[in-house]
Amino acid sequence: MAKAMISSSFPIFLLAFSLLIFSISVETRSTPFRGVVEAGLELQCNKVYGVKNGDTCFDLEQKFKITTPHFSFINPNLNCTDLFIGQWLCLDAVLILP
Ligand SMILES: *[C@@H]1O[C@H](CO)[C@@H](O)[C@H](O)[C@H]1NC(C)=O
Repeated sequence: MAKAMISSSFPIFLLAFSLLIFSISVETRSTPFRGVVEAGLELQCNKVYGVKNGDTCFDLEQKFKITTPHFSFINPNLNCTDLFIGQWLCLDAVLILP
């Protein structure tokens, strides 16, 4: 298992995007890398936050200095109009290559 070490200071979506581009370029050449790239990436959350009364996604992005695309990327199933108190959100994640 290879671990890509990425802290919240590095936008994960940029890495994911470049891997996507890589996967597209690999696809056209049909190299042995193809299977590995298409196996996909897994997110492992290393820092969570429990939602408090009055929190919004925007407030939390400001408070923890996370960009909106990065925040959405590390919280893929989050519906920001539907936050509830006690809900766990991810603030920092690493990408894992399975
Ligand atoms: C998010 O939640 C709101 C309120 O429950 C709902 O109206 C909306 O359709 C949901 N959006 C998504 C993308 O699921």
